[in-house]
Amino acid sequence: MKTKVLRMLKEADGYLSGQELCGRLHVSRTAVWKVVKQLEEEGYEIEAVRNRGYCLKRAADILSRAELESGMQTEWAGRNVLYFDETDSTNTEAKRAAEAGAPHGTLAVADYQTMGKGRRGRNWTSPRGVGIWMSILIRPALHPSCASMLTLVAALAVADGIKRICGLDSRIKWPNDVVINGKKVCGILTEMSTELECINYVVTGIGINANIESFPEEIRDVAASLYLETGKRVKRSRLIGAVMEAYEGYYSRFMERGDMSGLLDAYNGLLANRDNAVRVLDPEDEYTGTALGIDPMGRLLVRTDDGFIRSVLSGEVSVRGIYGYV
Ligand code: BTN
Repeated sequence: MKTKVLRMLKEADGYLSGQELCGRLHVSRTAVWKVVKQLEEEGYEIEAVRNRGYCLKRAADILSRAELESGMQTEWAGRNVLYFDETDSTNTEAKRAAEAGAPHGTLAVADYQTMGKGRRGRNWTSPRGVGIWMSILIRPALHPSCASMLTLVAALAVADGIKRICGLDSRIKWPNDVVINGKKVCGILTEMSTELECINYVVTGIGINANIESFPEEIRDVAASLYLETGKRVKRSRLIGAVMEAYEGYYSRFMERGDMSGLLDAYNGLLANRDNAVRVLDPEDEYTGTALGIDPMGRLLVRTDDGFIRSVLSGEVSVRGIYGYV
């Protein structure tokens, strides 16, 4: 009911009469009034005017299940939201939900993570109230060897969402760091459960440094936040909605062929490493070269210094810029 009231207030152009709310929701005026009071307690500013009704005035940066679901314009991505004020990790929550049968597109979102996970077993610092810490659960009919490309799909969606909501141009450091002015603003971690030939489910965790005001000295040169880049606080629920909308579109283009061939131009157009000198940290064979772009399987093509083209599979090795983080 709260989600419905919120959605109606958001969609209304100005005031929405109590009568209309009651009629469309088939509840009493008192029931509507109670929900309005609850929303106000959560931080929404709602003006109530006799004979006109209710009007949602100020949209604060509130995260809740009702806030997220009431603004979601997608068909399936993020339609079912699991919201946590605090949890260990949204990836872990999404995996728990997957095991319990949660549907394709379920989105776990937290205001704070106590044990945020990064790639290669690292921690992901996830302070309260200032970040987007979320994980989407998907159940694609794909071979397990294709799953790593879903991380690239998510990176495209994040770059799109950031452009739409914050007006910022971001780029992608292969395979899946979203960077602004050469600094990382978002990290993505994909985990999955598979059988021999098929995927049970994939969980793609997305961490966006949204309204973080400062970073520790050690990472100041390589970490960015949307707030530090624009000087403005982003309303996180809007950005989450925009990322989910973009994700849905890229995901269906990806699933048409089960690879990145339909998204090559989009991805390579945003590739931050493109034409850069990179060092490929392959434990068996470290080498340097120039990054050219990705191939249809999402591998990074690198022209080695002795003129060969080699393809780097994500997850296997790490690629570093020789003259900086990108
Ligand atoms: C990286 O190392 O770059 C990946 C970071 C991924 C962080 C996100 S935050 C939401 C989700 N939950 C986690 O525990 N990790 C991912």
